Amino acid sequence: MSAVLKSPPVFFRPMSGEDLDNIMTLETRNYDFPWTRQIFADCLRVGYLCQVCEMDNQLAGYCIMSTGASEAHVLNLCIAQGYRRRGLGKRLLTHMLELAKHRQVGTVFLEVRPSNKAAISLYEKMGFNEIGTRLDYYPARVGREDAIILAKSLEV
Ligand SMILES: CC(C)(COP(=O)(O)OP(=O)(O)OC[C@H]1O[C@@H](n2cnc3c(N)ncnc32)[C@H](O)[C@@H]1OP(=O)(O)O)[C@@H](O)C(=O)NCCC(=O)NCCS
Repeated sequence: MSAVLKSPPVFFRPMSGEDLDNIMTLETRNYDFPWTRQIFADCLRVGYLCQVCEMDNQLAGYCIMSTGASEAHVLNLCIAQGYRRRGLGKRLLTHMLELAKHRQVGTVFLEVRPSNKAAISLYEKMGFNEIGTRLDYYPARVGREDAIILAKSLEV
């Protein structure tokens, strides 16, 4: 008899102010230039799409997307280190794209550092295409780093 190992279920739900302590822990662990708590609070206040994913009753990741005028921008996507390479980034982003469709979004944009090969690979697999570059967009440990601009149409 062979055992079938199932991974625990993943839950998606809206972010709330009560998540911010855990989110700030992940944010500061995962980014060299983390957002402040106030930025997250502002995203919640203005009604951006703010979602978290949970596994094993733990906060495994979060994503924030602004929407307006048929466009959306992925502003932050983060999966906790212990939960990476299990398809969660892909599933959370897919979930966000579904929510964006319900807000009549036609095109989703995002920026990514050229050095962030993991994220670029994820976005390309999700059907995002490079449409341009923003020069010196990000702070870096030395000087500044450009941003690659990616876009994906949600229209069929
Ligand atoms: C980028 C990030 C969200 C990916 O999350 P994840 O849950 O590990 O991604 P998934 O397991 O869904 O992987 C989907 C695809 O992304 C790519 N990918 C993910 N991690 C990768 C890595 N370390 N190296 C190369 N490709 C990687 C692969 O193409 C992968 O597909 P595969 O598993 O079939 O090879 C995660 O690494 C993260 O939170 N990084 C820190 C924060 C960050 O940089 N966010 C993006 C800012 S623009």
